[in-house]
Amino acid sequence: DDTHSTTLRTPIVAVLGHVDHGKTSLLDKIRGSAVSEGEAGAITQHIGATDIPLATISTMAGELVQPEDFDLPGLLFIDTPGHHSFSTLRARGGALADIAVLVVDVNDGFQPQTEEAIDILRRTGTPFVVAANKIDTTAGWNPQEGLPIQETYEEQSERARSMLDENLYALIGELSDAGFSADLYWRVQDFQKNIGVVPVSAMTGEGVPDLLTVLMGLSQRFMKEEMAIDVAGPGVGTVLEVKEERGFGATVDAVMYDGVIRTDDQVVIGGQDEPIVTDIRALLQPQPLAEIRTEKQFEKVDSVAAAAGVKIAAPDLADAMAGAPVRVVRDRDIDDVITEVTAELEEIDVDTAEDGVVIKADTLGSLEAMASALKEAEIPIMRAEVGDIAPRDVAIAETANQDEHKAILGFNVDILANASDELEAADVKLFTDDVIYQLIEEYDTFVEERKR
Ligand code: GTP
Ligand code: MG
Repeated sequence: DDTHSTTLRTPIVAVLGHVDHGKTSLLDKIRGSAVSEGEAGAITQHIGATDIPLATISTMAGELVQPEDFDLPGLLFIDTPGHHSFSTLRARGGALADIAVLVVDVNDGFQPQTEEAIDILRRTGTPFVVAANKIDTTAGWNPQEGLPIQETYEEQSERARSMLDENLYALIGELSDAGFSADLYWRVQDFQKNIGVVPVSAMTGEGVPDLLTVLMGLSQRFMKEEMAIDVAGPGVGTVLEVKEERGFGATVDAVMYDGVIRTDDQVVIGGQDEPIVTDIRALLQPQPLAEIRTEKQFEKVDSVAAAAGVKIAAPDLADAMAGAPVRVVRDRDIDDVITEVTAELEEIDVDTAEDGVVIKADTLGSLEAMASALKEAEIPIMRAEVGDIAPRDVAIAETANQDEHKAILGFNVDILANASDELEAADVKLFTDDVIYQLIEEYDTFVEERKR
């Protein structure tokens, strides 16, 4: 029988940022240095996530992190590839991530997806730090593998230091323009009021000890209460991706943020049309030390306790939606669980109007983000759905009363072949982009031009 006991779970850290600014490299560096510190066994690679225990963080951060000062078990990092919308990272009532790292190339500064990330962090109230990455590309930089930032600063020429400082202050300025008071992290007194900027290099590992320290400190200070969970309770999580897997059919990659999920569990998962009720066939993890996103060989596990990433294999998962809830039924009434999942999906139901545009997005989270951006731009929505653009969407868009509403706005979605034909024949404009505000700008421009 289950013994119900409260434990502090690992905080979930989302790594966000513009394409190529170094999210994956930063995580690779953290993994790599842990391995070279002889901590290979200490890092657990999950599906879609990397678990770094406190002892490993402490080894990497050196004097900056003393394990006895902390009682949270470590950090669970989720990488979000640039092409994929990180707004999938949603959970009941807000963000799945407890805390975020916004990675910004210190030379490039703010870019479209940086702005988008900031908007979502603001909307969900997720605390975050900024990793000002690629400091090693500063002209004349004298790299100091893996050193904390203050120590590497001392090894730099006056010129290199002032060039980096200039870039850092420009970045702090951009954060301020975006409405966030920010400063270099060692100057920040109150991390709830000010955003800490941590200069790092994912290439040389400089500043990585500082970043881990700040994340650990922030979580411990401000998130400890929220981390208390019933470790034996029925698992709760969010779908990150729905993936076809040889031998398993459609599977769901999920991040679990509460309780435990077991192979003999029945689960309810948010689907395109209605909640999916299914029995787990297997819980899968990557083989140890394998690269998560390329790995094909999985290892079956009996159970997974939050916080963790896991691949769920079960019948009927093809209609599961990225960003939708996953809930283990266990010894509860199945109808209650279906009601919970339905309620959670309704939370993100978009306000629709009699007349308006059709919007399509890759995940529930991005649909939600899109709807909120359109509302701000005062563009009415007639229909909002997750999924690729289908003939039906064209047919619906055509029924709009005002000509300017005969439009489909697609975020991170493909156009199904048969829909392209319909589009050519119909009087419907299609807009697609992978940055929400650009999508809205394109649509606005079209509306403006029509008026001329
Ligand atoms: P997407 O997943 O496509 O959004 O990109 P990403 O943010 O994960 O970036 P990624 O880690 O793939 O890095 C992009 C490129 O920048 C790669 O060629 C990296 O080698 C390089 N890069 C990342 N971090 C650093 C850094 O700190 N210094 C230098 N010199 N290059 C870096
Ligand atoms: Mg990446």
